[in-house]
Amino acid sequence: MGLTRPLPLRLRADGAYLVTGAFGALGRLLCRTLVRRGARRLVLLGRTGVPERGAWRRLDPGGPEGRRVAFLRELEALGAEVLVAAVDVTDAAAMEGWLAGRRAAGLPPVRGVFHLAGQVRDVLLPSLDREAFDAGYGPKVHGGYLLHRLLREEPVEHFVLFASVASVLTTAGQVNYAAGNAFLDALAHHRRALGLPALSLDWGPWATGMIEELGLVAHYRDARGMSSLAPEAGMAVLERVIGQDRAQLLVATVVDWPVFLAWYPTRRRWCRRWPPRRPRRSRRGRAAVCSTRSAPPTSRRVRRW
Ligand SMILES: NC(=O)c1ccc[n+]([C@@H]2O[C@H](COP(=O)([O-])OP(=O)(O)OC[C@H]3O[C@@H](n4cnc5c(N)ncnc54)[C@H](OP(=O)(O)O)[C@@H]3O)[C@@H](O)[C@H]2O)c1
Repeated sequence: MGLTRPLPLRLRADGAYLVTGAFGALGRLLCRTLVRRGARRLVLLGRTGVPERGAWRRLDPGGPEGRRVAFLRELEALGAEVLVAAVDVTDAAAMEGWLAGRRAAGLPPVRGVFHLAGQVRDVLLPSLDREAFDAGYGPKVHGGYLLHRLLREEPVEHFVLFASVASVLTTAGQVNYAAGNAFLDALAHHRRALGLPALSLDWGPWATGMIEELGLVAHYRDARGMSSLAPEAGMAVLERVIGQDRAQLLVATVVDWPVFLAWYPTRRRWCRRWPPRRPRRSRRGRAAVCSTRSAPPTSRRVRRW
């Protein structure tokens, strides 16, 4: 699919790397990777903060706050300076206030943005109310757009959006989540058209995080033909694709193409040409990395569905 040759990811010690949804399963993995690759200043953004440092000793290490603090200590032990921003990424005033505070304090510029904040709230259309719609849609759409708008003046080199295969593959009950992730894909294309860095990653299921917590790993494997990405494999893919000249990449481990394609009635049209050029490899469960830009014209028709 025309990726340029791999270069080791090298991050800068003189800038800050902002991770939204940083205390989630993938956020934690990512933060560790960023520090290992040279980041020395991290901003961990999520709605839930951590207590003041003076109170850390009294926390139950097995409780949610104790686990968040243990994670901060781990990053510090790896050499990072970590700031926590307890901010709802969909709240424009709170985001503006947080950024103004950073600038007033003369903190280092933001060099990387990794937008992972998100929620899954699957509801079939007849039962979908505003609250449920916003839960899946808001962090992706309002959050993604606010990051784009508010950080325009920062010297951002990486603007990575954690989206989902849900934006290109239909799943019943995920209209809110699909719309939110499709917006992230569109935002990445928009930014690149403006000459700004952006990469939207449409991840398939991971073996950790929201899919695993919702007990959907077996569903994706047996009913959708996709196995779950192991954490280290997913992070290796991220490091491989992060500097690529692509706005959008789909990353999923398809282990059973017939099951995977059976969901799509017009599958023959794109099955002919689209990923399974080497089907035997795919059946063994190699991650498929596909770019909508590099796909043949027949496969682009999939977007009409
Ligand atoms: N895990 C997977 O299999 C998978 C597959 C495809 C795509 N993805 C995408 O990858 C991202 C991370 O997934 P994950 O599995 O790590 O999820 P997760 O463990 O549920 O973590 C999500 C994080 O987002 C934060 N968050 C939610 N709404 C927020 C808001 N309005 N403002 C700020 N922070 C907010 C949550 O923290 P608070 O509740 O404290 O705010 C939480 O820490 C998501 O965007 C997801 O769509 C994941």
